[in-house]
Amino acid sequence: MIKIAIFASGGGSNLQALIDAQDVGLFKGKIALIFSNVPESGAMEKGENERIESVAIASKGYPGSREEYDAEVLRLCESKKIDLVCLAGYMRILTPVLIKPYLYKMMNIHPGLLPMFGGEGMYGHHVHEAVITAKENESGATVHFVTEGVDAGPIILQGNVKVQSNDTPETLAERVLKVEHQIYPEAVRLFCEGKIKVVDGRVRILN
Ligand code: GAR
Repeated sequence: MIKIAIFASGGGSNLQALIDAQDVGLFKGKIALIFSNVPESGAMEKGENERIESVAIASKGYPGSREEYDAEVLRLCESKKIDLVCLAGYMRILTPVLIKPYLYKMMNIHPGLLPMFGGEGMYGHHVHEAVITAKENESGATVHFVTEGVDAGPIILQGNVKVQSNDTPETLAERVLKVEHQIYPEAVRLFCEGKIKVVDGRVRILN
């Protein structure tokens, strides 16, 4: 059984979608840990309500470096024997301390169609604002593996939505989130079934 950790900083709707998918048996994995850098986040509350081990380490005011913080998080994941880390609205750039040991075992969900509208500063509503400003006809969501470049790792799954002429960042975000809630559990299912291989830096999905 694949042991999964979910990292979230905010409301945690993707976290909830992953919990729901687990509950209906979509993937052969167990969410063994919920982690947040924001102790008062909705994600922590959801984890506690679901009786899943939930740990927060406040990043705000943390006395050490980013690397020391990530080393602490790594020790936590290793102590729980976590096989897969899912970033679900985890609003913190990771250091190699955490990325390297979990290379191709750590996924992220991004609210846009990477490689467009990604990189530092492109997260949450900033992505939707940029998509609307650029007058794109399409947006969507991307699940990708986390590598050292921000939003630059191999793409696992994407889902599209049409951008409407009267969309605001909020209305677009709402429709993109629905897609996120479909493709993230599906990516986890593929991982748990051993169907995702990375060959020459690209994802290949096995039948
Ligand atoms: C989601 O839209 C997710 O794609 C985005 O934050 C939101 C979290 O919502 N993540 C990023 O922008 C990361 N670059 P949630 O807390 O309801 O899952």
